[in-house]
Amino acid sequence: MSTRSQEAGAPVRVGIIGGGLMGREMASVFGRWFALDNFPVRVELHAVCDLQPALLEWFRQVPTVRLLTTDHRELLGSDRVDVVYVAVPHHLHQAVYLDVLRAGKDLLAEKPFGIDRDAAVAVRDEARRLGRFVRVSSEFPFLPGAQRAYELARSGQLGRLLGVKAAFLHSSDLDPRKPINWKRQTKYCGSAGVMNDLGLHVTHLPLRLGWKPASVYAQLQKIYLSRPDGKGGFSACDTWDNAALHTTATIGGEAVPMTLEMKRMAPTETNTWTFEVLGTDRGVRFSTKEPKTLWCYRRDQEQWWERTDLGFQTPFKTITGAIFEPGFPDLLMQMWAAYLAERAGLLGERFGCATMEEAVASHAISEAALRSHASGGVAAPAG
Ligand SMILES: NC(=O)c1ccc[n+]([C@@H]2O[C@H](COP(=O)([O-])OP(=O)(O)OC[C@H]3O[C@@H](n4cnc5c(N)ncnc54)[C@H](O)[C@@H]3O)[C@@H](O)[C@H]2O)c1
Repeated sequence: MSTRSQEAGAPVRVGIIGGGLMGREMASVFGRWFALDNFPVRVELHAVCDLQPALLEWFRQVPTVRLLTTDHRELLGSDRVDVVYVAVPHHLHQAVYLDVLRAGKDLLAEKPFGIDRDAAVAVRDEARRLGRFVRVSSEFPFLPGAQRAYELARSGQLGRLLGVKAAFLHSSDLDPRKPINWKRQTKYCGSAGVMNDLGLHVTHLPLRLGWKPASVYAQLQKIYLSRPDGKGGFSACDTWDNAALHTTATIGGEAVPMTLEMKRMAPTETNTWTFEVLGTDRGVRFSTKEPKTLWCYRRDQEQWWERTDLGFQTPFKTITGAIFEPGFPDLLMQMWAAYLAERAGLLGERFGCATMEEAVASHAISEAALRSHASGGVAAPAG
């Protein structure tokens, strides 16, 4: 799918709305796009919008940028922008995403894709109505270890499934002196709290495998109820910090326990994404804690965990040598490659970005978790 302004062979011109942590990370991806080997789509960053002029100044370093603005409507009014990536606080997702779609642009949205399920459904429905190409940011499945785990999980070689565990764990909030930010306030982050922040990272692979929870039992925790406001006082810190969801998914006709964990207060974990599937015959485990290592379980006369050292086996080939280790910026590049390849109809069998349906389903799991926690019982996700 291409927009009217884009000519054949011309680079896809990207606009970024929200030039904070993620907006700048994404800009750096385009700066080394030539590292992709024979990738059929060229891309350049054309325009950036942020409310903070100091952040806009940073983007002056990017030679292709022609438009810097504090008004996202000005960026969307440019007929030189084809695709828009939006990385703003969650309470703004619905309004800004709808503005992008109605301006005739394609969208790479940030998770959680709306502050709640209703917002996600509204954006999804409008994108369908307008026929825009929309995907949602979730980069960890593009790691070689995650790709291998996904392939094994869907291969049918695991036997009868005994259990699935997926988690995304942080520890940066353990320090009570850390100042408040919008991600710790329900009005900006959403009532699902940490599930809005980290949820899609955890649910993306299970949902892609078709492993949708039929029931959820949730344990949610709020640890510190206020934090320094950075001005000498304190502000309420009212979001859920930790979520442990004990779910059941029907896989191969059987009810399989699936544990989904999203935590901001997990001691010693900085940014740990893990995925593990155990079956009666085989199993697989991957964690960013050991980013080069794939663990595979197999059973013969004895039971074995086999450890494989991985290299740079990413879905989209780059000039990087096969023995080197990929990192976070490489994942973002792979995710953008998947987005632009799929948009151009060139994805083939490769792993695609999270879909709007997966984001809606992820919200449904979080909403069921909130109901479960409130009732103390089990809840069923909508849809
Ligand atoms: N995929 C990932 O790994 C990942 C990691 C972190 C955050 N995120 C997501 O990215 C999004 C942004 O998070 P962040 O960490 O970059 O936040 P951030 O606070 O660092 O940046 C948000 C930026 O949006 C700007 N902004 C706010 N309102 C705006 C408006 N109306 N118009 C233009 N700019 C506006 C702010 O000035 C700020 O610079 C969120 O949806 C978050 O969940 C994704």
